[in-house]
Amino acid sequence: MSASVSQISVVFRLLGVFVLILVVVLVFHLVPSSPSADSFTETGDPHPLAPIEGGTTAHFEIPHILHHTFASEMVYENYRPMISSCLKLNPNWTYYLWRDSDARALIFLHYPQYMKTYMRFNDNLQRSDAIRYIILHRFGGIYLDMDVECVRPFHPALTRQAAFLDQERVEQTRIAWGRQFSAMNSLMGSVPGHKFFQAMSDRVLLRKLPGDAYSSTGPNVLTQVFQRFRNSPAIWNWPVHLLPPSVASPLMDPNRNWRQLCRYARYGWGSRGCRMLRAKKWRMDDRNGGTVAVHRFLHLGYGFAVRQRKSLFNLTKEFGSARVNFYLRRPV
Ligand SMILES: *[C@@H]1O[C@H](CO)[C@@H](O)[C@H](O)[C@H]1NC(C)=O
Ligand SMILES: *[C@@H]1O[C@H](CO)[C@@H](O)[C@H](O)[C@H]1NC(C)=O
Repeated sequence: MSASVSQISVVFRLLGVFVLILVVVLVFHLVPSSPSADSFTETGDPHPLAPIEGGTTAHFEIPHILHHTFASEMVYENYRPMISSCLKLNPNWTYYLWRDSDARALIFLHYPQYMKTYMRFNDNLQRSDAIRYIILHRFGGIYLDMDVECVRPFHPALTRQAAFLDQERVEQTRIAWGRQFSAMNSLMGSVPGHKFFQAMSDRVLLRKLPGDAYSSTGPNVLTQVFQRFRNSPAIWNWPVHLLPPSVASPLMDPNRNWRQLCRYARYGWGSRGCRMLRAKKWRMDDRNGGTVAVHRFLHLGYGFAVRQRKSLFNLTKEFGSARVNFYLRRPV
């Protein structure tokens, strides 16, 4: 009698240990490793092609389409060298320039649910932010700001994945915005129909969010939607890769005096950003062998930079009408 009771208790104990081991194995197996921004910024960047988000990205290929947006085909001279570098380094890519008229036509024809909010934005920067998410959702490809200079071809460095977002230098995000990290919409790529860009377009265009461009359509809301998306089950079928800053935004914005800002940063993320920058001996350029593009922070779209705008040049004439495509056939 007592022997069988102790036998049963041994069996139960073994069973308990077994279940515990099972649970531990399952937990480690199921929880996706989603490193925080810190793990690849403060301890050095991994190889830029290493997939950071869950799921395999090997079978995705971002279409070889390059998208710029501007009011018209008459573009500031300031941008000429950057545009030229990207077209030259990606000679076989289809190039689209999205003028305001093209943007409106795309929304009118295929995303009418966004039209009202799009027209109600009071800032052109908001329209410029919003249209890029829609373009990537509809066609896929790579969107880039005109002040992004290219230094290596996009393929294969950036194309073998479902979607990616640029990331601001972490020191800059922390010192300038008091946040841990920030996705950037100055360079983004995607396959068409990606659920992330659907979620992003819905977030900023179904209803007008309060605030300026930065928080209602730009990096702030992009980072929020990204964080929510990467914690949702959708990430498994629709990976989104947050690029290490050295890949496309290796520079600290040269328009700010970082040493001076750091004199007053004593608490929170700001002081941590300053500590990182000091540890790097105030290195403002983090370019390395994995750098594909360099965001130049020209800020010409902002009122305060009006005086830095140079004259306009005709982009179609410069790069040829065989190279420059429009959504709406000319003339408009
Ligand atoms: C572009 O395409 C041509 C013809 O298909 C090919 O010979 C060339 O190697 C390609 N260039 C690049 C940079 O991929
Ligand atoms: C720009 O150049 C193209 C090609 O030369 C021409 O067809 C077009 O009318 C020009 N656009 C403007 C706004 O001058």
